Amino acid sequence: MRHHTTFRQLEIFEAIARLGSFTRASEELYLTQPTVSMQMKKLTDTVGAPLVEQVGKKVLLTEDGQELAQATREIFAILDRYTMSVAQRRGLEKGKLKLMAITTASYFAPRLLGEFSKLHPGIDVSLRVTNKEQVLASMADNLDDLYLLGTPPEEIDVVATPIMDNPIVVLAAPDHPLSKEKHLSLKRLATEPWIMREAGSGTRKAIERLFQEHGLEIRPRLELGSNEAIKQAILAGLGVSALSSHALVLHQPGQFAVLDAEGFPIQRHWYAVYPAGRKISVVARAFLDFLLGQSGSASPEVKAMRPSASGPRNAPG
Ligand code: PGA
Repeated sequence: MRHHTTFRQLEIFEAIARLGSFTRASEELYLTQPTVSMQMKKLTDTVGAPLVEQVGKKVLLTEDGQELAQATREIFAILDRYTMSVAQRRGLEKGKLKLMAITTASYFAPRLLGEFSKLHPGIDVSLRVTNKEQVLASMADNLDDLYLLGTPPEEIDVVATPIMDNPIVVLAAPDHPLSKEKHLSLKRLATEPWIMREAGSGTRKAIERLFQEHGLEIRPRLELGSNEAIKQAILAGLGVSALSSHALVLHQPGQFAVLDAEGFPIQRHWYAVYPAGRKISVVARAFLDFLLGQSGSASPEVKAMRPSASGPRNAPG
């Protein structure tokens, strides 16, 4: 009488083919040896030809066995893909996404999260906007799925994917005398009263680095811990500053003068970051893909950076 091949038999056969041993296959599958032998016999009967041969202690595959092993691997791979795609759909129907964004990322992160939420209304999203110290603490404790940062941390090994341009521009009040000038030198700019972000701010570091590279130093007249406060101070005529152009999104054109200055805009990027070695969730992966789809308008430079940035990398400093 002909039997039907069952998945159980294929599973047992796959384990024997892979491990080269009935004993190890039975251990791996938590089955008794007689069960394994009996199922293999049934499978052999169904096929109508020997699948394995015993050579010394080793179990080797016959030619028919090798062909079946290949077919079995393909069947299981297809099933794995199917199971994964079902899990993905389930995950995207009602998963969780926990994001953390550094200060300045608050100008664009909520908008992107909102758009993603519209695409996947069942996903429960949360966003915390915070400083660098808390980002590091959260990464160490695995609290959030993804981090939106301007500077991938050097302290922790991370996977950082550039998702968007982040140009830093020099801003002054519209009636500032420098607003009409062309090609302002850094040397001239360094003599202005500067309003700076707090120590530890990625924006501040980028500005200081540019001046240092030219052997210049700027002495802040005011130090303020928020982009919004800095904008107020600029409009109050207290000095100039340089901020991410994202900090201007909600302003009318012309509300600030963007100075035409040497070395500016400083070309930086926003990164989506997670700790290296961490397997990110289906939802986090979908959000990352969404972010990369959004950066269609980003410069070719950002796109070119993508492949090299998909693996663990160190911070660009
Ligand atoms: P911020 O921005 O630290 O200046 O807020 C993040 C970054 O640009 O690294």
